[in-house]
Amino acid sequence: MRPDQAKKEHYYRMAKKAGYASRAAFKLKQINRKYRVFKSGQSVLDLGAAPGGWTQVASKEVGDTGKVVAVDRRPLRIDLANVTSVVEDVLSWIPGEQFDVVLSDMSPSVTGIWEHDQYEQWRLATRALEIAEKVLKKGGNFVCKVFDGEGAKELYERAKGEFFFVKLTKPLASRAESSELYLVCKGYFGRH
Ligand SMILES: C[S@@+](CC[C@H](N)C(=O)[O-])C[C@H]1O[C@@H](n2cnc3c(N)ncnc32)[C@H](O)[C@@H]1O
Repeated sequence: MRPDQAKKEHYYRMAKKAGYASRAAFKLKQINRKYRVFKSGQSVLDLGAAPGGWTQVASKEVGDTGKVVAVDRRPLRIDLANVTSVVEDVLSWIPGEQFDVVLSDMSPSVTGIWEHDQYEQWRLATRALEIAEKVLKKGGNFVCKVFDGEGAKELYERAKGEFFFVKLTKPLASRAESSELYLVCKGYFGRH
């Protein structure tokens, strides 16, 4: 088995054992361990949330006094007391409230045509940043999947003008073969 395949299997088994809806949960756990994205009692918007691994991690981090609004075109596979699920296309959905944290693990359906997939991913990540700019409270945090390349650089530069701390990172749970990176942004300056 290739090392990347073995890693995928490893996190898949760990997710199953821990009761996570997806192995993606470990990526957010690793990001949060390093960058401290959440605090108890916060409100979180999770974009591209299905099947629900990230939502489970966020739900636990913010606790009973916090809440998570989880948006995806597909329904979630989890049901938690502090989670509201919204089945919508994020490209046309307009949120109506403010949040402490915005997350996006959105990915397009990958076709294998690199330029196309790269463009679609950039479109989703750009939409996530636009939403974050609208709904984040001052001091809020944003974590977003991007594909490595010009689009990631563009989003990084844009975020640098809007947040106190901005970093592009690749959590260990992300396959080395995949071009995905995560933009971690902390301390939103607020809308001008
Ligand atoms: C990698 S999965 C997310 C996994 C999730 N973070 C988890 O931990 O379970 C990417 C998700 O993005 C969603 N997605 C892609 N484009 C979308 C769009 N335009 N609107 C809403 N969701 C979208 C897909 O339906 C898919 O569920």
